[in-house]
Amino acid sequence: MESFLIKGGVPLHGEVTISGAKNAALPILAATLLTDEPCVIRRVPDLSDTRFMVQILQSLGATAKFENGTVTVHAKKIRGYADYELVRKMRGSICIAGPLLARLQKARISLPGGCIIGARPINLHLKGFASLGVKTKIEGGYIDATVKKLIGNTMFLGGRAGPTVLGTANVMMAATLADGVTVIESAACEPEVVDLANFLNAMGAQISGAGSPTITITGVKKLHGAEHEVIPDRIEAATFLIAAGATNGEVTLRGARADHLRAVIDKLSEAGVSVERSGADLIARRKGKLKPVDITTLPYSGFPTDVQAQMMSLLVLANGISIITERIFESRFMHVSELARLGADIEIEGPSAIVKGGKPLSGAPVMASDLRASAALVIAGLAAKGATQVNRIYHLDRGYEQMDAKLRKLGARIQRVEEK
Ligand code: EPU
Repeated sequence: MESFLIKGGVPLHGEVTISGAKNAALPILAATLLTDEPCVIRRVPDLSDTRFMVQILQSLGATAKFENGTVTVHAKKIRGYADYELVRKMRGSICIAGPLLARLQKARISLPGGCIIGARPINLHLKGFASLGVKTKIEGGYIDATVKKLIGNTMFLGGRAGPTVLGTANVMMAATLADGVTVIESAACEPEVVDLANFLNAMGAQISGAGSPTITITGVKKLHGAEHEVIPDRIEAATFLIAAGATNGEVTLRGARADHLRAVIDKLSEAGVSVERSGADLIARRKGKLKPVDITTLPYSGFPTDVQAQMMSLLVLANGISIITERIFESRFMHVSELARLGADIEIEGPSAIVKGGKPLSGAPVMASDLRASAALVIAGLAAKGATQVNRIYHLDRGYEQMDAKLRKLGARIQRVEEK
């Protein structure tokens, strides 16, 4: 297994180009199963998760090629069975269910299971499918879903923690080929849902309202091939903005979308990190001393759960108390005990982390537990004095394209080494 070896204390300076969004690319790749014509998807980040989705498409019978950030898929003839060995590696693979139901009226998919950040149920996906007439049964760890004909319907997809991103994507994809009109109430408003809707509309779907809590899908008979460029990754962009602030540097982001980052930019500015627009670029720089801030993660356009861990690493450096409340995933504080190894003083109280910031950080070996927790440890390592070894960075490689190379270009002393 590989690790990052970081020698901290170097302010980041320079320019970084933001890659395509993983969480937009995954459902968009799944959506190519909706047509028997070829599709071309550009700006796909080269990550283990996207490579993995390409393998799933291939295992379902599609031809798929991933070259220089472009994935070409031709799902001329496909089958509706996805094996456990493939699906268990990535929860995002659940979003093949909608396209398979639309195209084949059946799907047999291994249940993805939970993960370190929480239980991750799929009851809302199943509720949405049921409204469209799908019968599902869970047997031997597989979801067996069948439908004679998908029929449009009105449904409410809000759950305990608000809307569901992949659930909205799944139902939206299934409904594109349903008979009649589907209305999703309490739909997820994330930019990744909008990007998927734009791709589906380019394929001939009739979707309106994506980006708002009510999405209307008028079913069509057939979808055709289309080309699409994936939106830039707002979580990767946020991670680099925070890294710039944490190291007291100045970083220019190429290709990031400020309109997707409003909650993050607002909290950064409160914490003493300014983010300014310069043409199409965003420039992050520290304005004096860091200040503590309180944060609550919420569905879009609130502060994203996927940036909570990285922001904690910044607030550990601010003198005073910050309260971070996690409202989306119940166990998304795995980074706390690892940050403590670097000298951070954080207490967990129910869904909140009380960060007593301002203690000096010093390098130590730490263990990455999930994708965003890994990014948080890298940021803390960049800000800490001395050497930090972040172990198990395969988590990080699932969602960040060449993070080490990008950081090195900004002046960071970071190396990829074999774990000892
Ligand atoms: N939920 C249910 N029932 C469901 C589905 C979700 O109760 O059927 C709950 C979840 O347990 C959670 C909340 O609803 O409390 C939101 O979960 P959501 O379904 O929105 O999450 P997701 O669609 O499975 C995507 C991203 C995650 C990101 C979340 C929230 C992808 C591939 N994954 O997951 O990304 O944290 O939305 O924004 O798009 C990451 O990239 O690191 C990551 C974990």
